[in-house]
Amino acid sequence: MKVFVGQPLPEPSTTELLSGHDVVIGRGSLPSDEIAAHFPDADAFLPTPRERVTPELLASAPRLKIVASCSVGTDHIDLPACRERGIVVTNTPGVLTEATADLAWALILAVTRRLHEGEALVRSGTWDGWKPLELLGIGLQGKTLGIYGMGRIGAAVGRRGEAFGMRVIGMTDADGADRFEELLRESDVLSIHSPLTEATRGRFGRGELSRMKRGAVLINTARGPVVDEAALVEALESGHLGGAGLDVYEREPALHRRLPGRCDVVLLPHLGSATAETRLAMARLACSEIARFFRGEPLRHRVA
Ligand code: DGY
Repeated sequence: MKVFVGQPLPEPSTTELLSGHDVVIGRGSLPSDEIAAHFPDADAFLPTPRERVTPELLASAPRLKIVASCSVGTDHIDLPACRERGIVVTNTPGVLTEATADLAWALILAVTRRLHEGEALVRSGTWDGWKPLELLGIGLQGKTLGIYGMGRIGAAVGRRGEAFGMRVIGMTDADGADRFEELLRESDVLSIHSPLTEATRGRFGRGELSRMKRGAVLINTARGPVVDEAALVEALESGHLGGAGLDVYEREPALHRRLPGRCDVVLLPHLGSATAETRLAMARLACSEIARFFRGEPLRHRVA
Protein backbone atom coordinates (compact mmCIF):
# COMPACT_ATOMS: atom_id res chain seq x y z
CA MET A 1 0.00 0.00 0.00
CA LYS A 2 1.18 3.56 -0.56
CA VAL A 3 1.54 5.55 2.65
CA PHE A 4 2.21 9.29 2.51
CA VAL A 5 3.85 10.65 5.69
CA GLY A 6 3.52 14.43 6.06
CA GLN A 7 7.09 15.06 7.26
CA PRO A 8 10.06 13.10 8.63
CA LEU A 9 9.32 11.26 11.90
CA PRO A 10 11.64 9.86 14.57
CA GLU A 11 12.88 6.43 13.50
CA PRO A 12 12.55 3.52 13.75
CA SER A 13 8.86 4.13 13.19
CA THR A 14 8.17 4.08 9.46
CA THR A 15 11.15 1.81 8.69
CA GLU A 16 10.08 -0.82 11.21
CA LEU A 17 6.29 -0.64 11.31
CA LEU A 18 5.51 0.22 7.68
CA SER A 19 8.28 -1.91 6.16
CA GLY A 20 6.00 -3.82 3.77
CA HIS A 21 4.49 -0.62 2.36
CA ASP A 22 5.54 1.97 -0.19
CA VAL A 23 6.31 4.90 2.16
CA VAL A 24 6.78 8.44 0.82
CA ILE A 25 7.85 11.18 3.24
CA GLY A 26 6.90 14.80 2.59
CA ARG A 27 8.41 18.15 3.53
CA GLY A 28 5.59 19.31 5.85
CA SER A 29 2.60 21.63 5.23
CA LEU A 30 1.71 19.78 2.02
CA PRO A 31 3.06 21.86 -0.85
CA SER A 32 0.87 21.53 -3.94
CA ASP A 33 3.54 19.60 -5.90
CA GLU A 34 3.49 16.88 -3.21
CA ILE A 35 -0.29 16.69 -3.27
CA ALA A 36 -0.32 16.36 -7.08
CA ALA A 37 2.48 13.79 -7.10
CA HIS A 38 1.40 11.54 -4.23
CA PHE A 39 -2.23 11.85 -3.21
CA PRO A 40 -3.92 10.37 -6.31
CA ASP A 41 -2.58 6.89 -5.46
CA ALA A 42 -2.11 7.14 -1.66
CA ASP A 43 -3.92 4.51 0.42
CA ALA A 44 -2.96 5.98 3.80
CA PHE A 45 -1.92 9.42 5.06
CA LEU A 46 0.03 10.10 8.24
CA PRO A 47 -0.20 13.86 8.95
CA THR A 48 1.19 15.93 11.82
CA PRO A 49 -0.73 18.96 13.17
CA ARG A 50 0.97 21.02 10.42
CA GLU A 51 -0.70 19.19 7.53
CA ARG A 52 -4.36 20.11 7.12
CA VAL A 53 -6.77 17.44 5.94
CA THR A 54 -9.37 19.41 4.03
CA PRO A 55 -12.22 18.31 1.73
CA GLU A 56 -10.07 19.53 -1.21
CA LEU A 57 -7.17 17.34 -0.12
CA LEU A 58 -9.48 14.34 0.26
CA ALA A 59 -10.91 14.99 -3.21
CA SER A 60 -7.38 14.65 -4.62
CA ALA A 61 -6.95 11.24 -2.92
CA PRO A 62 -9.66 8.89 -4.23
CA ARG A 63 -7.93 5.74 -2.87
CA LEU A 64 -7.36 7.07 0.66
CA LYS A 65 -8.71 4.72 3.35
CA ILE A 66 -7.06 5.87 6.57
CA VAL A 67 -5.67 9.11 8.07
CA ALA A 68 -3.50 8.27 11.11
CA SER A 69 -2.43 11.52 12.71
CA CYS A 70 0.79 11.83 14.67
CA SER A 71 -0.96 13.97 17.31
CA VAL A 72 -3.64 13.78 19.94
CA GLY A 73 -5.36 16.88 18.52
CA THR A 74 -7.48 16.35 15.43
CA ASP A 75 -8.56 19.93 14.70
CA HIS A 76 -6.37 19.93 11.56
CA ILE A 77 -8.54 17.15 10.15
CA ASP A 78 -12.02 17.70 8.73
CA LEU A 79 -13.61 14.74 10.52
CA PRO A 80 -17.09 15.06 8.95
CA ALA A 81 -15.49 15.11 5.47
CA CYS A 82 -13.51 11.95 6.33
CA ARG A 83 -16.64 10.23 7.67
CA GLU A 84 -18.57 11.15 4.54
CA ARG A 85 -15.91 9.45 2.40
CA GLY A 86 -15.68 6.43 4.73
CA ILE A 87 -12.09 7.31 5.66
CA VAL A 88 -10.96 6.05 9.06
CA VAL A 89 -9.14 8.55 11.33
CA THR A 90 -6.89 7.74 14.31
CA ASN A 91 -4.83 9.83 16.76
CA THR A 92 -2.15 9.29 19.44
CA PRO A 93 -3.57 9.96 22.93
CA GLY A 94 -1.90 8.80 26.14
CA VAL A 95 1.73 8.68 25.06
CA LEU A 96 2.23 12.47 25.23
CA THR A 97 0.38 13.19 28.48
CA GLU A 98 3.35 13.47 30.84
CA ALA A 99 5.64 15.33 28.40
CA THR A 100 2.95 17.93 27.71
CA ALA A 101 2.14 18.33 31.41
CA ASP A 102 5.86 18.84 32.11
CA LEU A 103 6.05 21.51 29.41
CA ALA A 104 3.00 23.32 30.81
CA TRP A 105 4.79 23.36 34.15
CA ALA A 106 8.01 24.57 32.53
CA LEU A 107 5.97 27.54 31.27
CA ILE A 108 4.28 28.12 34.63
CA LEU A 109 7.65 28.25 36.38
CA ALA A 110 9.32 30.27 33.61
CA VAL A 111 6.63 32.97 33.72
CA THR A 112 6.12 33.13 37.48
CA ARG A 113 9.86 33.05 38.29
CA ARG A 114 10.91 35.20 35.29
CA LEU A 115 13.45 32.65 34.08
CA HIS A 116 13.80 34.17 30.61
CA GLU A 117 14.54 37.62 32.04
CA GLY A 118 17.07 36.22 34.50
CA GLU A 119 18.77 34.19 31.82
CA ALA A 120 18.97 37.18 29.49
CA LEU A 121 20.47 39.28 32.29
CA VAL A 122 23.22 36.75 33.01
CA ARG A 123 23.99 36.24 29.32
CA SER A 124 24.18 40.02 28.76
CA GLY A 125 27.25 40.20 31.00
CA THR A 126 25.74 43.15 32.92
CA TRP A 127 24.63 41.26 36.03
CA ASP A 128 26.60 42.57 39.00
CA GLY A 129 25.45 40.32 41.85
CA TRP A 130 22.61 39.39 44.22
CA LYS A 131 20.06 42.07 45.08
CA PRO A 132 17.07 41.75 47.42
CA LEU A 133 14.74 43.36 44.90
CA GLU A 134 16.00 41.81 41.67
CA LEU A 135 13.54 40.02 39.35
CA LEU A 136 11.01 39.16 42.02
CA GLY A 137 8.51 36.58 40.80
CA ILE A 138 5.19 35.14 41.92
CA GLY A 139 5.15 32.39 44.59
CA LEU A 140 2.90 29.40 43.90
CA GLN A 141 2.49 27.84 47.34
CA GLY A 142 -1.14 28.16 48.52
CA LYS A 143 -2.25 29.78 45.25
CA THR A 144 -4.98 28.42 42.96
CA LEU A 145 -4.24 26.56 39.74
CA GLY A 146 -7.22 26.45 37.37
CA ILE A 147 -7.31 23.79 34.67
CA TYR A 148 -9.53 24.43 31.66
CA GLY A 149 -9.94 20.95 30.16
CA MET A 150 -9.52 18.34 32.87
CA GLY A 151 -8.72 15.44 30.53
CA ARG A 152 -5.57 13.30 30.67
CA ILE A 153 -3.13 16.20 30.25
CA GLY A 154 -5.11 18.62 32.45
CA ALA A 155 -5.23 16.03 35.26
CA ALA A 156 -1.46 15.44 34.95
CA VAL A 157 -0.87 19.21 35.23
CA GLY A 158 -3.15 19.26 38.28
CA ARG A 159 -1.18 16.45 39.98
CA ARG A 160 2.01 18.46 39.55
CA GLY A 161 0.18 21.51 40.96
CA GLU A 162 -0.67 19.64 44.15
CA ALA A 163 3.01 18.71 44.54
CA PHE A 164 3.80 22.45 44.35
CA GLY A 165 1.34 23.10 47.20
CA MET A 166 -1.33 24.66 45.00
CA ARG A 167 -5.10 24.37 45.32
CA VAL A 168 -6.25 22.82 42.04
CA ILE A 169 -9.65 23.45 40.45
CA GLY A 170 -10.56 22.09 37.04
CA MET A 171 -13.40 21.85 34.60
CA THR A 172 -14.44 19.52 31.81
CA ASP A 173 -16.92 20.01 28.97
CA ALA A 174 -19.64 18.65 31.22
CA ASP A 175 -19.24 21.53 33.72
CA GLY A 176 -21.37 24.57 33.10
CA ALA A 177 -20.97 28.33 32.96
CA ASP A 178 -20.80 28.72 36.76
CA ARG A 179 -17.72 26.52 36.98
CA PHE A 180 -16.08 28.44 34.14
CA GLU A 181 -16.73 31.73 35.94
CA GLU A 182 -15.25 30.25 39.14
CA LEU A 183 -12.16 29.21 37.19
CA LEU A 184 -11.76 32.76 35.82
CA ARG A 185 -12.41 34.40 39.18
CA GLU A 186 -10.28 32.15 41.39
CA SER A 187 -7.25 31.09 39.35
CA ASP A 188 -3.87 32.64 40.04
CA VAL A 189 -2.54 30.47 37.22
CA LEU A 190 -4.99 29.25 34.56
CA SER A 191 -3.74 26.49 32.28
CA ILE A 192 -5.62 25.53 29.09
CA HIS A 193 -5.84 21.85 28.08
CA SER A 194 -9.01 21.60 26.02
CA PRO A 195 -9.15 20.43 22.42
CA LEU A 196 -9.98 23.04 19.78
CA THR A 197 -13.65 22.64 18.85
CA GLU A 198 -16.35 25.06 17.75
CA ALA A 199 -17.26 25.39 21.47
CA THR A 200 -13.73 26.24 22.63
CA ARG A 201 -12.62 28.47 19.72
CA GLY A 202 -12.16 32.00 21.11
CA ARG A 203 -13.28 30.81 24.58
CA PHE A 204 -10.79 33.20 26.23
CA GLY A 205 -11.77 36.51 24.67
CA ARG A 206 -11.74 40.09 25.92
CA GLY A 207 -14.66 39.57 28.36
CA GLU A 208 -13.35 36.33 29.84
CA LEU A 209 -9.81 37.66 30.26
CA SER A 210 -11.17 40.76 31.99
CA ARG A 211 -13.00 38.50 34.48
CA MET A 212 -9.75 36.75 35.43
CA LYS A 213 -8.08 37.71 38.69
CA ARG A 214 -5.84 40.78 38.45
CA GLY A 215 -2.22 39.63 38.11
CA ALA A 216 -3.17 36.07 37.05
CA VAL A 217 -1.02 34.11 34.62
CA LEU A 218 -2.46 32.36 31.55
CA ILE A 219 -0.77 29.25 30.15
CA ASN A 220 -1.73 27.67 26.80
CA THR A 221 -0.20 24.40 25.63
CA ALA A 222 -3.40 23.20 23.93
CA ARG A 223 -4.40 25.05 20.75
CA GLY A 224 -3.83 28.72 19.95
CA PRO A 225 -7.32 29.65 18.71
CA VAL A 226 -8.83 28.84 22.14
CA VAL A 227 -7.41 32.26 23.15
CA ASP A 228 -8.09 35.54 21.35
CA GLU A 229 -4.46 36.64 21.03
CA ALA A 230 -5.28 40.34 20.46
CA ALA A 231 -7.40 40.35 23.63
CA LEU A 232 -4.59 38.62 25.52
CA VAL A 233 -2.07 41.24 24.41
CA GLU A 234 -4.47 44.00 25.56
CA ALA A 235 -4.96 42.29 28.95
CA LEU A 236 -1.17 42.14 29.39
CA GLU A 237 -0.61 45.70 28.18
CA SER A 238 -3.22 47.08 30.59
CA GLY A 239 -1.50 45.22 33.45
CA HIS A 240 -4.66 43.23 34.20
CA LEU A 241 -2.91 39.90 33.59
CA GLY A 242 0.46 39.26 35.21
CA GLY A 243 1.92 37.16 32.40
CA ALA A 244 1.39 34.41 29.87
CA GLY A 245 3.18 31.27 28.76
CA LEU A 246 2.33 30.18 25.24
CA ASP A 247 3.34 27.08 23.30
CA VAL A 248 0.62 27.47 20.65
CA TYR A 249 -0.70 30.44 18.67
CA GLU A 250 -3.91 31.63 17.12
CA ARG A 251 -2.40 31.80 13.62
CA GLU A 252 0.47 29.38 14.15
CA PRO A 253 3.30 29.73 13.27
CA ALA A 254 2.61 33.51 13.04
CA LEU A 255 2.57 35.54 16.26
CA HIS A 256 0.60 38.62 17.22
CA ARG A 257 3.07 41.39 16.38
CA ARG A 258 3.08 42.84 19.93
CA LEU A 259 3.81 39.52 21.69
CA PRO A 260 7.55 39.03 21.00
CA GLY A 261 8.56 42.37 22.55
CA ARG A 262 6.91 41.66 25.90
CA CYS A 263 8.97 40.52 28.87
CA ASP A 264 5.92 39.16 30.74
CA VAL A 265 5.41 36.36 28.21
CA VAL A 266 7.35 33.18 27.50
CA LEU A 267 6.92 31.91 23.94
CA LEU A 268 7.74 28.38 22.80
CA PRO A 269 7.41 26.75 19.35
CA HIS A 270 4.72 24.09 20.04
CA LEU A 271 7.05 21.87 22.08
CA GLY A 272 4.49 20.20 24.38
CA SER A 273 5.23 16.64 23.27
CA ALA A 274 8.82 17.33 22.19
CA THR A 275 10.89 14.77 24.03
CA ALA A 276 12.74 12.14 22.02
CA GLU A 277 10.89 9.36 23.85
CA THR A 278 7.44 10.88 23.38
CA ARG A 279 7.83 11.85 19.73
CA LEU A 280 9.08 8.34 18.94
CA ALA A 281 6.13 6.82 20.82
CA MET A 282 3.69 9.05 18.89
CA ALA A 283 5.27 8.16 15.53
CA ARG A 284 5.23 4.45 16.35
CA LEU A 285 1.60 4.60 17.46
CA ALA A 286 0.50 6.38 14.26
CA CYS A 287 2.48 3.97 12.04
CA SER A 288 1.15 0.94 13.90
CA GLU A 289 -2.45 2.11 13.36
CA ILE A 290 -1.83 2.09 9.59
CA ALA A 291 -0.12 -1.31 9.75
CA ARG A 292 -2.99 -2.73 11.83
CA PHE A 293 -5.59 -1.26 9.49
CA PHE A 294 -4.08 -2.98 6.44
CA ARG A 295 -3.71 -6.26 8.36
CA GLY A 296 -7.42 -6.03 9.26
CA GLU A 297 -6.71 -5.78 12.99
CA PRO A 298 -8.68 -3.60 15.44
CA LEU A 299 -7.41 -0.02 15.78
CA ARG A 300 -6.36 1.40 19.14
CA HIS A 301 -7.44 5.03 18.84
CA ARG A 302 -10.08 5.54 16.20
CA VAL A 303 -11.74 8.98 16.21
CA ALA A 304 -13.75 8.67 12.96
C1 DGY B 1 -0.82 17.10 19.59
O1 DGY B 1 -0.46 15.92 19.72
O2 DGY B 1 -1.94 17.40 19.26
C2 DGY B 1 0.21 18.15 19.86
O3 DGY B 1 -0.22 19.40 19.56
C3 DGY B 1 1.53 17.84 19.18
O4 DGY B 1 2.12 16.93 20.01
